[in-house]
Amino acid sequence: MKPETRDKLAFDSKAVYYNPDPSTKSINAPLYLSNNFQYDEEIYQNIVEGARITENIYGRCGNPNETLLQEQVAMLENADGCLALGSGMAAVATTCLALLRPGDHIVSDWTTYSSTHEMFDHRLTDFGIETTFVDCNDIEAVKAAITEKTKIIYFETIANPNMRVTAIPPLVKLARDNNLLVICDNTFASPYVMRPLDWGVDIVVESATKFMGGHNDVLGGIIAIKKTNLPDDFLHDLRWGTHVKLGGVLSPFNAWMLLRGLQTLPVRLERQCKTAMKLALYLENHPAVQKVHYPGLVSHPNHEIAKTQMPNYGAMLTFEVADGQSAIEVCDSLELCAFAASLGSVRTITQIPATMAFLDIPKIEREKMNIQDGMVRVSVGLEDPHDVINDIDQALNQITIHKQG
Ligand SMILES: Cc1ncc(COP(=O)(O)O)c(C=O)c1O
Repeated sequence: MKPETRDKLAFDSKAVYYNPDPSTKSINAPLYLSNNFQYDEEIYQNIVEGARITENIYGRCGNPNETLLQEQVAMLENADGCLALGSGMAAVATTCLALLRPGDHIVSDWTTYSSTHEMFDHRLTDFGIETTFVDCNDIEAVKAAITEKTKIIYFETIANPNMRVTAIPPLVKLARDNNLLVICDNTFASPYVMRPLDWGVDIVVESATKFMGGHNDVLGGIIAIKKTNLPDDFLHDLRWGTHVKLGGVLSPFNAWMLLRGLQTLPVRLERQCKTAMKLALYLENHPAVQKVHYPGLVSHPNHEIAKTQMPNYGAMLTFEVADGQSAIEVCDSLELCAFAASLGSVRTITQIPATMAFLDIPKIEREKMNIQDGMVRVSVGLEDPHDVINDIDQALNQITIHKQG
């Protein structure tokens, strides 16, 4: 297919299609399980003369499966370029280490995935990089946090786990006025729900482990960029200057699995978002549930922002029961839905953020993130919506029975 025809395709068609393998004409990508590729005189000469060839040299520098995945994701995120890595955290860390130097400063939203928050709060400080945490929807607070050392503003499109949605245009304007870069983690949304680069964000990082892979069987990470405010050779430097040196690479098999996962991303998410909405509405009326956090609900504090920025409200939600003990009782009583760490797959998965992913974050900081002990996170899967609701209903009724007894 000609590139100009491909560019005009709808998101769903872009997700499914890629050009046949040039050597075999196979319509599915062959799996290239090779970490070495034969040099010929031309390649050898290019390398000797300093050219940086990004694929088919050595596995850590690139692989045909990784290259194809990068092209597909760049298309789906409306990016100018993309780098695929071994995990979501490899994407976050590699981006930070490529951009920041000792003395630099980050302004980050209060609520980010626990490992990201901890990396900003502890690991990066070891390298002289400081972070100020603010509510990124409070633009005056963001403004006040910016110093002459600030280089980036960082947030999550839908924050893990409190489901806050950040308004992007005011942050982008502030960043442009202050010559900063805007980076966001799009994991909870996925490019089906939200394409932040279209809103002026400079760099998107994402855990492909989640909705992109979609089947609980692969780890991967994505960095997708818009070139406008970045140096021309940014992607090249990101790969050669940082990624290849740090070595957080994606295996060819995982790249192949992610390509396969991407093909069904739109159909999975279409269904998952619908079920999430039904579940959120149901939970809002359950007597054992104190609060539901889902951007599609009118009661969500960022509903209007979400309505403007996202054509769908996503497949993640959280709800609150009385306390941590009740949350455990609910998750432990589930029969159909899983009680596990991850998210974004065909299975409905529950998690208790306070005592699982965010356990290492002190309670005082968890409270600033609005992570309550009785909060249950749900990643809605592809099961029949009635079965999901029935399962969560019977689990919620266990706490009621327990309390009454
Ligand atoms: C929002 C977010 N970003 C990044 C990550 C890290 O992804 P990975 O586990 O692929 O390293 C996660 C993991 O749960 C996440 O939820």
